[in-house]
Amino acid sequence: MRKIKKIVLAYSGGLDTSVILYWLKEKYGAEVITYTANLGQGQLLDFIKEKAERTGAAKAYVEDLREEFCEKYVLPALQAGALYEGRYPLATALGRPLITKGLVELAEKERAEAIAHGCSGKGNDQVRFEVTARALNPEIIILAPLREWELSSREEEIRYAQQHNIPVKVSEESPYSIDRNLWGVSIECGILEDAWQEPPAQAYQITCPPQKAPDKPTYLEIELKEGVPSKLNGKIYPLVNLIEELNKIGGVNGIGRIDMVENRVVGIKSREIYEAPAAVILHCAYRELEKLTLDRETIHFKETIAQKYSELVYNGLWYSPLRKALEGFVCQTQKVMSGQVKLKLYKGSCEVVGRRSPYSLYDRDLATYGKESIFNQKAAPGFIHIWGLPLKTISKIRKK
Ligand code: ARG
Repeated sequence: MRKIKKIVLAYSGGLDTSVILYWLKEKYGAEVITYTANLGQGQLLDFIKEKAERTGAAKAYVEDLREEFCEKYVLPALQAGALYEGRYPLATALGRPLITKGLVELAEKERAEAIAHGCSGKGNDQVRFEVTARALNPEIIILAPLREWELSSREEEIRYAQQHNIPVKVSEESPYSIDRNLWGVSIECGILEDAWQEPPAQAYQITCPPQKAPDKPTYLEIELKEGVPSKLNGKIYPLVNLIEELNKIGGVNGIGRIDMVENRVVGIKSREIYEAPAAVILHCAYRELEKLTLDRETIHFKETIAQKYSELVYNGLWYSPLRKALEGFVCQTQKVMSGQVKLKLYKGSCEVVGRRSPYSLYDRDLATYGKESIFNQKAAPGFIHIWGLPLKTISKIRKK
């Protein structure tokens, strides 16, 4: 075994990473420094430093990355229209490259040879952590105790924690595995593993069941300025706060619940539920404004970009040259993404009911069925004749 003197551990303060912290010290005799990034997981991080130190960390860092997360990770994905397999807004997948960047930078600053994470050997997150870490620092050693150690169940971890006086509050652990940040909540395990079972009400963390949402619709007006959400209901919000606010308003109205079976990078199909009120509302607003301001060819091509982009993010390839190149395309399209979208939230549904933009390509004089129409209907037959010529030709030749 290689001698490792210092390890920086991605630490959430939960059961797994608490036990890992202790285990790493035992196994490697190394100094362990913890790193916790605040991406808006809605959990009080005040005590985390103290908890890490009580568990044996040499130092504990907590970093607020909410702004960077929203501006540098969430926003580009939103502009790209990135929804994995058409639905998942990628909250967890977008958080990982940023957490890993923080981890690697801290390891470099602290001159630690290794980083460690608490991901299992079956999921996507191990892939994201490790691919990102190697992309940023090819020499760094990566430790994944959950894949290697002898503890094979939660119960054993709890027993290990009790034996070694590791402070864990087992009563607070839920039957689900939950990952949360500002862009959404990912929930899996427990009864959710039965793909036929409707998710129990308690599985959801931040949304109200649609049937219990208010009986009156809530209207929202979202304003964009060159691809960046600038105002909500006429009021200026920094992006972090705008997302928080939309999570609140959307959550109350039962918006953003997603129940899906998805294809993991490692080849497994998994059933996961998500809650992403702000993401669902914003994606809805963006797609609608695009319809108004982008030309047909660009919109259609952008759909293929969106799919590829979502796969790259999901598959842990945030720092790939291709994602960066696609970002270039997306940025170009955002120049005309200014305007307002009016949305109606009602018992779980989010509907666009109005849109306008100084860059609107919608020409009412062309579209109208009224007599003011300027569209030359006499030009249509010639167009249709040539447009349909290939099909007409096939038919004529085959009939002979
Ligand atoms: N399936 C999601 C993804 O791969 C979420 C993974 C983490 N989920 C969790 N409940 N811990 O991005």
